[in-house]
Amino acid sequence: MSGAPFRLASLDAGHDRTAFNSDSEPLNRYLREQATQDVRRRVAACFVALADGSRIAGYYTLASASLLLADLPASTVKKLPRYPTVPAVRMGRLAVDQAFKSQGLGGALLADALDRAARSEIAAFALMVDAKDEAAAAFYRHHGFIALPDSPLTLFLPLATVLRS
Ligand SMILES: CC(C)(COP(=O)(O)OP(=O)(O)OC[C@H]1O[C@@H](n2cnc3c(N)ncnc32)[C@H](O)[C@@H]1OP(=O)(O)O)[C@@H](O)C(=O)NCCC(=O)NCCS
Repeated sequence: MSGAPFRLASLDAGHDRTAFNSDSEPLNRYLREQATQDVRRRVAACFVALADGSRIAGYYTLASASLLLADLPASTVKKLPRYPTVPAVRMGRLAVDQAFKSQGLGGALLADALDRAARSEIAAFALMVDAKDEAAAAFYRHHGFIALPDSPLTLFLPLATVLRS
């Protein structure tokens, strides 16, 4: 990653959430108003990249999820057991502050999420994401994610791929 060094941490009350300003207002509002509550209720884990001490430069969330086998591409299904669903980890949100865009931070946060999901003791077949629009889906495809055949804004990356790389 070029530019300023970032420190990755779990979101906590000491981090400054108010100044965060990505291109997506819903993602800014989520960090400001909802993230700490979701963490407290254990419906999401939230990880932040910190610049200059407590300033949040980017964040993402992870939570448990599942993928229906019937929704996956045939080439993936053929390598899986015939269960109705497979376990997954969902990266529900990912955003980088405008001041830190295009410096590799989005890619670094994605790599951190993949690494955390792949190294968990609780098995998950894939990291999945719900891209908010086509530009976000292009970002994930750029990083090797595969779109579900019938829902192109839902993408996944098998975690065995991450462990092999
Ligand atoms: C999408 C987002 C997270 C990217 O963050 P970023 O820090 O600017 O991205 P990076 O600098 O890490 O880019 C990493 C790589 O992805 C590529 N990339 C970035 N945006 C892309 C896009 N929309 N489509 C295709 N590739 C893209 C970059 O060219 C770069 O490629 P390289 O590693 O081969 O040089 C950021 O723009 C953002 O917060 N957008 C608003 C919220 C959003 O769309 N979130 C997506 C999840 S819904």
